[in-house]
Amino acid sequence: MAEPLRSSTDPHVPSKTTLLESRWPKLALPRVGLVAGPTPLERHEGLTRATGAEIWLKRDDLTHPFYGGNKVRKLERLLGDAIAQGADTIITTGAAGSHHVLATAVFGKKHGLAVHAVLVPQPASEHVTLDLRAMLGQGAELHPVSYFASVPAATAALLAKLKLRGKRPYVIPPGGSNGTGALGYVEAGLELAQQMLEQRMPEPDAIVVALGSGGTVAGLAVGLAAAGCLVPIHAVRVTARGLVGRAFLLAQIRGAIERLHASDDRFPRISGVASDLYRIDEDELGEGYGLPTPRTREAMRLGDEHGLHLDATYTGKTFAGALRLVREGHEGKKLKRLVYVHTLSSAPLRPLIEGAPSIPHRLDKLLT
Ligand SMILES: Cc1ncc(COP(=O)(O)O)c(C=O)c1O
Repeated sequence: MAEPLRSSTDPHVPSKTTLLESRWPKLALPRVGLVAGPTPLERHEGLTRATGAEIWLKRDDLTHPFYGGNKVRKLERLLGDAIAQGADTIITTGAAGSHHVLATAVFGKKHGLAVHAVLVPQPASEHVTLDLRAMLGQGAELHPVSYFASVPAATAALLAKLKLRGKRPYVIPPGGSNGTGALGYVEAGLELAQQMLEQRMPEPDAIVVALGSGGTVAGLAVGLAAAGCLVPIHAVRVTARGLVGRAFLLAQIRGAIERLHASDDRFPRISGVASDLYRIDEDELGEGYGLPTPRTREAMRLGDEHGLHLDATYTGKTFAGALRLVREGHEGKKLKRLVYVHTLSSAPLRPLIEGAPSIPHRLDKLLT
């Protein structure tokens, strides 16, 4: 097995000025500093040799040394907004092993916010169980429901209960995906475009990224469009069809742009360009969310052989999509060079689980 990728324990000092703020100096949108400046963009030699195409990794697994992944970028803006609005409590939602809920628990606690999460069932796996334990370890209060359809009512009831108790709750949508959360990936899009220039990377054929609740794709599309970098985004669907479609993505794209434009009217209104930049890959979802296909497992195996740890729910399917583009191509054209955005935290989970209670029976129904 190859050496694992460089770990996320490098010292991180949160960057003071974002690319957004430096390019549009009038921008004044709330943010807490979590992401320590640019995450690396690296050509992966082993995967390049193994696949015959240039594989570059955008290392968003390294967004934070305690817990990395894509959610950290969104939470910079969402927690910033919550604190600016005077909130003391966060309510959010996700599946039993949700990386978004775990990240919210970690960084909400770090900023003195209580975190409540309405959780829906997910196919059981060791990874999901560890995430759930880590949520408990971080002190999140977990409220299980049986179906996704029950989430709005459960959230409304929790909101009312917390307000009656004198709390000031702020609701973050599933996956942290709305116009505010997407701002974190607008920054990532600008960052990626700048790195490609600085590193003199020849233009890739595609940027491959997971499509879950959509904030990552929506923000990335806006950031790349704002930078004038019109590389197609290949968005690999990993959550059920129907939950997140083009209309929802457009709402997030517009939401992010409206916030930026309202704060600095020189930020361009580019929702059309951003929407044209991505395409949705429907071919890796298989039987559904959290259920790996043979191609997912093959991608995970190849990743492991080259020190790239992938999960079965998001990144395994996404990387499988990248491999398919190399082998079979897109619209008859095999891809020769791509950037895979690695959105899964590579920080060790153990420290987050230390002292965590075992999973109480009332949460049993979350692991199907
Ligand atoms: C590891 C990982 N990658 C990708 C995604 C998808 O990102 P988004 O929800 O912004 O579409 C998620 C969402 O939970 C995730 O946990």
